[in-house]
Amino acid sequence: MRKVRKAVFPVAGLGTRFLPATKAIPKEMLPIVDRPLIQYAVDEAREAGIEQMIFVTGRGKSAIEDHFDIAFELERTMTDRGKDISILDATRLGPGNCAYVRQQEPLGLGHAIWCARDIVGDEPFAIFLPDEFMWGSPGCMKQMVDAYERLGGNIISVLEVPREQVSSYGVIAPGAQDGTITEVKGLVEKPKVADAPSNLIVSGRYILQPEVMRVLEAQEKGAGGEIQLTDAMARMIGTQPFNAVTFDGRRFDCGAHLGYVEANIAVALERPALREPLRERMRVMLED
Ligand code: G1P
Repeated sequence: MRKVRKAVFPVAGLGTRFLPATKAIPKEMLPIVDRPLIQYAVDEAREAGIEQMIFVTGRGKSAIEDHFDIAFELERTMTDRGKDISILDATRLGPGNCAYVRQQEPLGLGHAIWCARDIVGDEPFAIFLPDEFMWGSPGCMKQMVDAYERLGGNIISVLEVPREQVSSYGVIAPGAQDGTITEVKGLVEKPKVADAPSNLIVSGRYILQPEVMRVLEAQEKGAGGEIQLTDAMARMIGTQPFNAVTFDGRRFDCGAHLGYVEANIAVALERPALREPLRERMRVMLED
């Protein structure tokens, strides 16, 4: 079995739902407490043994490249002032550990992934949608890699949502279930509630075989007039094993205001220095 060494992060999206915050900064740089969303996704990848991070970027996204670079002036100034710079350790990705490619037109998630085909090459790879914030230990991708090492093929993460929410997501038709593993028998992108095969949605983490790139090459436009990754994956079912992992942890949809605010509170409540004072202030606020 070939190891999952590479991860693709599609980060070219405009982030219009978070305007005006995202007018001049990428939505992936919005912080959860004090780390940007993209940093959590990269840390989750590293924890799962992934070595190379491939960012599919677009115009106006250069803050992401700067974030993962060495900030010479900052590090030098802090060191000269006797300040600890170890907080920056996780932000450095050396030339062998990252690559950037541009998606020049907003043609959809499937197209974004296809833009990384030459860097991915002929090996299985992971995909992270950074605004799906997966919080738990071990992380979501680590749990998926563990499943991949047993099952091979393609693995996606899924979770249950209330039925009326399924139209915002990719939805699976579930087959046999064994613990946290569910066989994927079908996939449909943003179905109408009445047409949805289940309430198990695709939650932004994938391990896919490289053949998906060839399927994407010929993929027609789907939901929303975009080239959909879900449609390409659906065409792989039956040719390769396809399974889903239900993440044992918490998920926050940080593409929406409520999920984003909730994620900040959840992470802050786990910080020893913030926990008690935050609980106290929230108690006071909620009484008003
Ligand atoms: C994308 C995927 C969808 C998935 C979702 C998770 O949709 O196309 O299958 O369920 O991410 O957040 P988007 O949010 O880009 O519309």
